[in-house]
Amino acid sequence: MDQLTLNTPLDMHLHLRDGDMLELVAPLSAETFSGAVIMPNLVPPVDSLDAVHGYRGRILQAIGKNAFAPFMTLFFRQYSEAELLAAKDHIIGIKLYPAGATTNSEAGVKAIDSVEPTIRLMEEMGMPLLIHGETHGFVMDRETEFLATYRHLATKFPKLNITMEHITTAAAVELLDEFENLRATVTLQHLLITLDDVAGGMLNPHLFCKPIAKRPEDRDALLDAALKAHPRLMFGSDSAPHPREKKECCGCAAGVFTAPIALQVLADLFTKNGCQQNLQAFVSDNARRLYDVTPAEKVVTLVREPFEVPAIYGETVVPMYAGETIPWSVQSVE
Ligand code: DOR
Ligand code: ZN
Repeated sequence: MDQLTLNTPLDMHLHLRDGDMLELVAPLSAETFSGAVIMPNLVPPVDSLDAVHGYRGRILQAIGKNAFAPFMTLFFRQYSEAELLAAKDHIIGIKLYPAGATTNSEAGVKAIDSVEPTIRLMEEMGMPLLIHGETHGFVMDRETEFLATYRHLATKFPKLNITMEHITTAAAVELLDEFENLRATVTLQHLLITLDDVAGGMLNPHLFCKPIAKRPEDRDALLDAALKAHPRLMFGSDSAPHPREKKECCGCAAGVFTAPIALQVLADLFTKNGCQQNLQAFVSDNARRLYDVTPAEKVVTLVREPFEVPAIYGETVVPMYAGETIPWSVQSVE
């Protein structure tokens, strides 16, 4: 298997930032992906329809001539019915961060119970809820501790579509099968690495993200579900660029920058495991079906030819596999 064609690849969880960083990273996603779910954790957060419109405009500007659909999200807060109705046709869903769980989430939710009125309205309007599912517990247990909240919400709001963002544990994969209204994204790095790659030897700040990579059995369960193209699992890179000086320092920011290598590495991973026939569903079809979106068609051909990953992009952002050679490249995009 030396060549692979993907139709309309989608990244269902992406950080594009703003300003110079947006200008740098947006084209790198827009070249190969047909669309992406855009995270709202800017400073200040994207928490009004005006902010959504403004940010979307800046993204469209930054991607230039590339055909690319930015699926916008609002940052979760208590919204009125009127606000939700006005926003409905302009967003793909609302992203809920527990307060303080990750980068720029200080304005997030302190107690889920107190925001159930907004969640109820979202359920009634058929508006998906995307969740960063971590508690404030011990770092390796934060996701598993949060599963009780997913269970509670999935039961109490049976018509609400809930996306468990960037799952990292075998337990989360199991939960996906318990509730029809749960779906999940998984990142590139969580299909590949464990905590050992982050901190088992010399500390690798470029692999440090939230949720932190977990145990080998967790990685294996995620990979297994992805390779099988579990019908409610979608690719969401969570590509999260930070300037190099915010990564290679004391107090390293969380986030792995994978946008420019994601499809090449997925092609390698799926072909190596003999599952190339399932990559299309994982990287596009599942998302199109689950979110009912129809982005413009883009055909990406990947080939087994070495690609030298740049050591740095724009003298600013260090990607995963920086300076290394990976076995697959993008041959063409039509
Ligand atoms: O590692 C992460 N980085 N996890 C998140 O949830 C946020 C992201 C970011 O915005 O940098
Ligand atoms: Zn994220």
